[in-house]
Amino acid sequence: MSTVTAAAAFDPARPAFTTERFALLDLLRAEAPATYLPALRVWAVTRWSDVRAVLRDATTFPSGSAFSAAVHLAPEAMAIMPLDSPLLAYSIINVDGVLHTRLRDPLIAAFSPKRVNALAPTVASDVEDLLEALAATQGDHDLVAALCRPLPLRTICRLFGIPLGDAAQLRAWSDAFISFQIPGLPVEAQVGAAHGLRALESYLRDLIGEKANAPDDGLISALTQGRTDGSHDLSDDELVADIASVFFAGHETTINTLGNAFHAVLTDRAVWDAIVAGDVTAEALTTELLRHDTSVMGLYRRAATDTEIGGVAIPRGATLWVAFGAANRDPALFEQPQDLRFDRPTANQQLAFGAGIHYCVGSALARLQIAEVITRTARRFPRMRLVPHAPIVELPHHALRATLALPVLLA
Ligand code: HEM
Repeated sequence: MSTVTAAAAFDPARPAFTTERFALLDLLRAEAPATYLPALRVWAVTRWSDVRAVLRDATTFPSGSAFSAAVHLAPEAMAIMPLDSPLLAYSIINVDGVLHTRLRDPLIAAFSPKRVNALAPTVASDVEDLLEALAATQGDHDLVAALCRPLPLRTICRLFGIPLGDAAQLRAWSDAFISFQIPGLPVEAQVGAAHGLRALESYLRDLIGEKANAPDDGLISALTQGRTDGSHDLSDDELVADIASVFFAGHETTINTLGNAFHAVLTDRAVWDAIVAGDVTAEALTTELLRHDTSVMGLYRRAATDTEIGGVAIPRGATLWVAFGAANRDPALFEQPQDLRFDRPTANQQLAFGAGIHYCVGSALARLQIAEVITRTARRFPRMRLVPHAPIVELPHHALRATLALPVLLA
């Protein structure tokens, strides 16, 4: 297949897209440092060295409005949720410079190792509860529905200090946010999603008010308290947007990475057996699974000026799709990248959490959850396997990789 063919074929609307995704990325990566993808109207950057270089150069390649530029909304939805509304205008992954630092510093302070470590016992007991429920379920078992989806939702509720009873509603709002990013979504669905985002915004505003009156040891109280004690001076709009960013960035990513990761480890029996035997450290396990199976396949940057990537001219204003998931399978850095190996000398160079100023704020919490879920499941169900010949369906999306259901046999 030529570059032209691979570039044209890289279109999530094609039925074969999800099964061909990695093969197409291999072609794009092998043939050019940057390739224009007509279906998505973006330049794909797929080589590890270029992806890292772009992420580290926020002056030439800022995030600012690159994400918004990728949102294709109808005027009816825009009227409800304009691109300058707080949730989008102050979305941390969408801004750079002084505003980005302003939004990020309080989050970094609030995500102290102490706070993440304090969640560890609760994450462990939530996993055990979900495994117990899985064991008690008769009939078919879907690992995504039973485990991968509920755990990160519970974790985000625990992190925020909100009742688990609100998890389903939060999940629906999160779906609204994801759907906002799908080009070609029917107008009615866009309008529904816009209302969902507005509802989330008002829920978070109320929550901030409640936590200000009755603080607890959760993240929202910490951020609210930070304003009172003068550690930061975020406005109400900035605070609500920062908390919404953590909510969006912090659980869908983990849900989808868990589903992809389970698919991978249950496909390679030697790998599963090594995990069952306790031969893989949590650090090696999570690093390699993030490399191989990240759910965030790529995000956006914009060329601030006429520039070039590896000799390919990129015009000012162009949107780049910076493909973490392609970089993570670059054979220049990872030998036989399609295999899971827990002893890679370059393992820590994987880019699942990005690089540079937007590096993932919640990486430690993500790793904690992945390690707890996979190792505890392997311990509890050592003979677990995929249902033979069951089709595995992924979300037809270029930027996200999500295994939608994973039918398993427990023994
Ligand atoms: C497996 C799970 C996760 C993956 C693969 C992931 C991936 C990423 C990536 C690639 C970025 C960089 C975005 C960019 O460069 O444009 C990012 C940023 C971010 N992540 Fe994560 N993430 C995960 C889990 C989490 C969790 C658990 C949280 C918090 C609870 C979180 C919060 C954030 C936030 C707030 C940002 C924005 C940082 C900024 O723009 O400065 N993430 N994440």
